[in-house]
Amino acid sequence: MGGRGWPRGVPLGLVVLALLLNAAALCRGGVTSRFVRLQEKAVDMPLNADVFRIPPGYNAPQQVHITQGDYEGRAIIVSWITPAQPGSSAVLYGTSPKKLSSQAVGIVLRYMFHNYTSGFIHHCLLKDLEYDTQYFYMVGIGQSPRTFWFRTPPKSFDSNKTLAHYEANPKKGQTVLFVGDLSYADTYPNQDNVRWDTWGRFVERSTAYQPWIWTAGNHEIHFAPELGETVPFKPYTSRYFVPYQASGSIAPFWYSIRRASAHIIVLASYSAYGKYTPQYKWLEEELPRVNRSETPWLIVLMHSPWYNSYNYHYMEGETMRVMFEPWFVKYKVDLVFAGHVHAYERSHRVSNIAYNIVNGKCTPVRDQSAPVYITIGDGGNLEGLATNMTEPQPGYSAFREASFGHAVLDIKNRTHAHYGWHRNQDGAAVEADSLWIYNRVWNPKPETD
Ligand SMILES: [Fe+2]
Repeated sequence: MGGRGWPRGVPLGLVVLALLLNAAALCRGGVTSRFVRLQEKAVDMPLNADVFRIPPGYNAPQQVHITQGDYEGRAIIVSWITPAQPGSSAVLYGTSPKKLSSQAVGIVLRYMFHNYTSGFIHHCLLKDLEYDTQYFYMVGIGQSPRTFWFRTPPKSFDSNKTLAHYEANPKKGQTVLFVGDLSYADTYPNQDNVRWDTWGRFVERSTAYQPWIWTAGNHEIHFAPELGETVPFKPYTSRYFVPYQASGSIAPFWYSIRRASAHIIVLASYSAYGKYTPQYKWLEEELPRVNRSETPWLIVLMHSPWYNSYNYHYMEGETMRVMFEPWFVKYKVDLVFAGHVHAYERSHRVSNIAYNIVNGKCTPVRDQSAPVYITIGDGGNLEGLATNMTEPQPGYSAFREASFGHAVLDIKNRTHAHYGWHRNQDGAAVEADSLWIYNRVWNPKPETD
């Protein structure tokens, strides 16, 4: 696979998270929502579903998606697939749809998986972009061109001007933090990669316009020796490029970006993280690099949650927690988002780092230097909701409900961010769970939850 060499950079702003869940009882911990919803069957969308529609025109580009292409947010990686022939790997772009005066040329690749051969996958880096600017871009040049647009983030330094401008932005959601498990193609016969294509077309209406910050989940592994497929993550790494080298990472599964006022660290639940491993050493060096004056908010994404009181994937995140939790407390991570569990849960600020094998101190305790842990694996999936919870609700758990939904994190300034979780059954403006989040460095007082 080519294209390992993207430059550095990353941005942030309003953040949207998509995940799923439903509800049950009560207890000693916080709130277990009793919200009762219609049972949503996990019905698979047929291959001819309208959301999978192939765009018209010969060899028209499809499955268009973008992500931040550098460390600071001045570059974008544009990716798309052409079905019949390679076509052009160039992107025309500019600040007016009528004057796409710049051009960048990317690379094209294909991959085979068992009896599936991918289309022609293009990745093209647009760099040296201006901050806080709307860009229009065209792909499929010379055959069936399609035009989309995106907006770069404001410059990160925490000037009042930037933040005020940020606050005034009427758009809800500028970046999607995606916490893993994309297409679920691995659950189909022969791990049918056609499902990667349908999923890519399905989400294009968002991924072509907003950077999605990718985290690898277990459904991205695609390790199938029985099919002759022994290279893990082949479809994912072929289709989704991330700027990992910009943050000094050696693999696309763990990396960091800066986006406006947030420093976002993506961790890999399915790459080695024990002591001396590349991911461990990278994170050990990465955390002291975070500049909380330039990027006041420190957010971590991972797939498998550390604090999860559902009976699904229970304690799967425990080994990574043992390795990294002391650092999260030391460096005052504000928020951790995880997926994997198809439900929603928010923790209090807790840590569980006192245990030393012999002292028996193995219960999570309230800790104002610790992150809020949010499990938001409730975007929707083939397996249905995780409705079975451990009882009683543990003390670390502030709110839990098994409904599908998404959340919006609205960073207001360096001290305050508003967080709201929206279940799918409600109107768009309804927050089923919400909280003012206080920055751990600039406003480290307890939240009122
Ligand atoms: Fe998962």
